[in-house]
Amino acid sequence: AEVHYHEFVVQATPVKRLCKTDNIITVNGQFPGPTLAVHNGDSLVINVINRAQYNITLHWHGVRQMRTAWADGPEFVTQCPIRPGGSYTYRFTIEDQEGTLWWHAHSSWLRATVHGALIIYPKHGSSYPFPKPHKEFPVILGEWWNEDPVRVVRRATRTGAAPNVSDAFMINGQPGDLYKCSNKETTIFPVKVGETNLLRFINAALNNELFISIAGHSMTVVAADAAYTKPFTTSVLMLGPGQTTDVLLTANQPAGRYYMAAHVYASAQGVPFDNTTTTAILDYAHPAGCPNAPLKGRSAASPLVFPVLPAFNDTPTATAFSAGIRSPQPVKIPGPVDHHLFFTVGLGLFNCPRGQRCGGPNGTRFGASMNNVSFQLPSQLSILQAHHLGVPGVFTTDFPAAPPVRFDYTAANVSRALWQPVPGTKVYPLKYGSVVEVVLQGTNIFAGEEHPMHIHGYHFYVLATGFGNYNPARDAAKFNLVDPPLRNTVGVPVNGWAVIRFVADNPGVWLVHCHLDVHITWGLAMAFLVENGVGELQSLEPPPADLPLC
Ligand code: C2O
Repeated sequence: AEVHYHEFVVQATPVKRLCKTDNIITVNGQFPGPTLAVHNGDSLVINVINRAQYNITLHWHGVRQMRTAWADGPEFVTQCPIRPGGSYTYRFTIEDQEGTLWWHAHSSWLRATVHGALIIYPKHGSSYPFPKPHKEFPVILGEWWNEDPVRVVRRATRTGAAPNVSDAFMINGQPGDLYKCSNKETTIFPVKVGETNLLRFINAALNNELFISIAGHSMTVVAADAAYTKPFTTSVLMLGPGQTTDVLLTANQPAGRYYMAAHVYASAQGVPFDNTTTTAILDYAHPAGCPNAPLKGRSAASPLVFPVLPAFNDTPTATAFSAGIRSPQPVKIPGPVDHHLFFTVGLGLFNCPRGQRCGGPNGTRFGASMNNVSFQLPSQLSILQAHHLGVPGVFTTDFPAAPPVRFDYTAANVSRALWQPVPGTKVYPLKYGSVVEVVLQGTNIFAGEEHPMHIHGYHFYVLATGFGNYNPARDAAKFNLVDPPLRNTVGVPVNGWAVIRFVADNPGVWLVHCHLDVHITWGLAMAFLVENGVGELQSLEPPPADLPLC
C-alpha cells in the first residue's frame, strides 16, 4: 500500500462561466478540484491550507474512516472549522472500497465549487471484476450560481424563505453549449471506435437529483458508491447528490459526436423546478487532450445527436434505475437486528419568531426534520470533540427511535398544523458492534419529495424501498436478503420509504442527512454516536494534534 501526500490550498479564484467572471472558492485554483486517485488499501495525507475568507472543512464522501472519525470533516460534527489562515491535515486509509467516491467542502454551501473526484483502483496486484477499459473519465455533475452560494444560503437562513435556484447545471465544471456564452465551455470526452470507456459519474449538485443519458449509446452499470454491482445495461442513469455510478460505455456507434445530457429529476409535488439541461460531447474524432484542435474526418461535419431524457417528474424511471442496482454476489446480511429504528424524513414549516417577518409560505420559515427534530449544529465545539473530552451541554443523547406522533405520513394533504419541527442537537447512541436497521419514512408534511439520505462513516445494505407508509407486516416480506446493494446514499422515494441495515463497527459521531444542501440547511439531519468497543482495534484513534478548535 502507498501513502499519497497532497496539499490543498483553499482560495478565491476568478472563473468565467455564463458570460461573467466570478471569484469562486477553489482548491489549488482548480474547478472542479483536483482528482485524487489511489488504490484500495492506500492512505491519504491531505494538508488543507485555508487562504479563503470563509471557514471551511473538507469531507471525503463515502470513505468509511475506520477509527479515524477526526478526518471525516463535517463542520461542528467531527471538527471545528478551519479558520481563514488556518490549516488541518486529514489522514485516513481506504479499507475495502473500490470504485468512485468524491470529496467536498462540508461548511455552509461551499461544496458548490469545492469538490473533486476520489478514484479508488483495485488493490495493488488485483484487477477490475470486468474487462479493463481502454480509457477512464470522471464525470462530475454540478450546479452553478451567478451569485456567491454562501450569500444565497445566508440570505435564505435570515429570511426563512427558500433560497434561489442555481443558474446552470454543469458537467466537469462546464455548462455546455446550450447556455449563452458557453460555446467553448463544453466538456469533450474523446473516444475511439470499438474501445470501452469507464465513466465515473458523481452527482455533486447541491440541490437536485439528475437524469443522465448519452445519445445513441447504452451504459453498463458496474459500481455505485465505491462498491461493485451486478452489471446491468441501461440508457438512462439517475443520481441523487452524493451518489456515484460507474458505467462501461463502448464506442460502438458510427463515428460522430453525441451529446451526453443531464437534467433534473424533480420529484417534489407542486414545487417549481428549473428544467435546465447541461451537455457534454462524446466525440469519436477529437484528439485527446486538445479541446481546441480542429476536428478531423466525417465526425467534424456530422450533426450532434441529442439523447432522449425522461420527463423531469418520471418517478417510475428514477426508482427502477435505483432498484436495478444489486450486489454482484449473495451477501451475508447482518443480523439479528439490535436496533429497530424508524426515522421520518421530511420538510416542515416553523412559526415566524414574534416581531420578525419571515419569507416562507404564509409568513412561516422553512424547516426540515427527522422524527420531528430539526438538527442544529453546535458552535462552541464539535459533537465528537465534546464527546471525547466529556464536555456537557453541546449535544444530547435523546434522539427518538421513532416519531413522536403517528399519522398518515404520505397522505395527499397532511395538515401543516399537525407537526412543526423542534430544533435540537440530538444524537442516537449505538453500542459498538450492534446491528442497526433503519426505516427511513418520507413525509408529505409540506411537500413530498425524494430525499437522498447519506450516512457518514458507513455504507449500508438497502434491503427495500417502496411507496406510501411503511408497514412491517406487509413490507418486511419484500426485503432483498440475497444481493441488496451496498450504498452510502439512498434515495428515499417521494412519499415512500427505504429500509437499510448496517453493523455499528466504526466508533465516532456520524452525521446522517439529506444530501440536498437546502434540506440540511433546514435541519434534515441527525447523528449516530457509536461507542468504542473493547481494545484499540475497536476504538477511535486519539485526536490529531492539529485538530482545529472553535
Ligand atoms: Cu457528501 Cu455530509 O456529505
